[in-house]
Amino acid sequence: MNKPKVLVTRRWPEPCEARLREAYDVAFNPDNQPLTLEELRTALRTHDAVLPTVSDKLPAEVFGEEPPRCRILGNFGVGFNHIDIESARARGIVVTNTPGVLTESTADIAMMLMLMAARRASEGERLLRAGQWTGWHPTQLLGTQVTGKTLGLIGFGRIAQAMATKAHFGFGMPIVFYTPRPAAPELLERFQARPLDSIDAVMREADFVALQCPGSAANYHLIKAEHLAHMKPSGILINTARGDVIDNQALIVALRERRIAAAGLDVYEGEPNLDPGFLELDNAVLLPHLGSATTETRIAMGMMAIDNVAAFFRGDNPPNRVV
Ligand code: DGY
Repeated sequence: MNKPKVLVTRRWPEPCEARLREAYDVAFNPDNQPLTLEELRTALRTHDAVLPTVSDKLPAEVFGEEPPRCRILGNFGVGFNHIDIESARARGIVVTNTPGVLTESTADIAMMLMLMAARRASEGERLLRAGQWTGWHPTQLLGTQVTGKTLGLIGFGRIAQAMATKAHFGFGMPIVFYTPRPAAPELLERFQARPLDSIDAVMREADFVALQCPGSAANYHLIKAEHLAHMKPSGILINTARGDVIDNQALIVALRERRIAAAGLDVYEGEPNLDPGFLELDNAVLLPHLGSATTETRIAMGMMAIDNVAAFFRGDNPPNRVV
């Protein structure tokens, strides 16, 4: 029997590519450049499975009118807002993702951004690398303490809970959060976390606000200027979710006018083409979407994506099916 024809859109860690080579008639992307809409459209017509990731845009027009050959999109990543899910559903294409395996690494990055923004780490490193450090003095680059301050979470899913664990037990931070669905009582007890009844209430009460909600169409610009206006002037905003969960222009204005103290960002609207306004801000720590970027996590993500595809071709229901 012919092996299923599989296309992998970007380079994956070697152990994952080796497993794919063994199991499938697989095509890789040796240049590792993001595929164009046209290339993705062709891929759907010529392969049984396409394994995309966050850098591949799969809007309705990529799916075309004809039923494609592709029967499964095995996404490398937990977020799938780059895929037009309704178009996939309408054409009977299964979509899977990789939840759980990147929880700790993404929560680690959120903690790192919180510490870096609070302690002005990027500013300090820039000063030093520019040869402008003239030595220690008592008022140099004074930041704000993290330990004991209140962490506010928007969303209370897996990554939010992992961050709450690190912040509460590691840094003695009281936790407040907002989520539209009631959180399980044992969670509230575990971190002594206090649910608040609105985003604005979290903005008002927290010293650090971390966006930990899914990057779905429903959450597009969930955080707008009017929400930022409720933050303390000393408040620091962290985003490791998706760039468009927050109105990036509004955030730039709030940072530029020092209505909030700082931000730590791993994701941007329209990334990798972030708004150049961010680059002018000393009070923004900017990372290039590194949330899940550890060797262990990326291998686990790849293996989970392959497990999903393997289950599908065996005729089983893939374990992490979103459509
Ligand atoms: C995820 O898994 O959603 C990461 O952000 C990479 O896509």
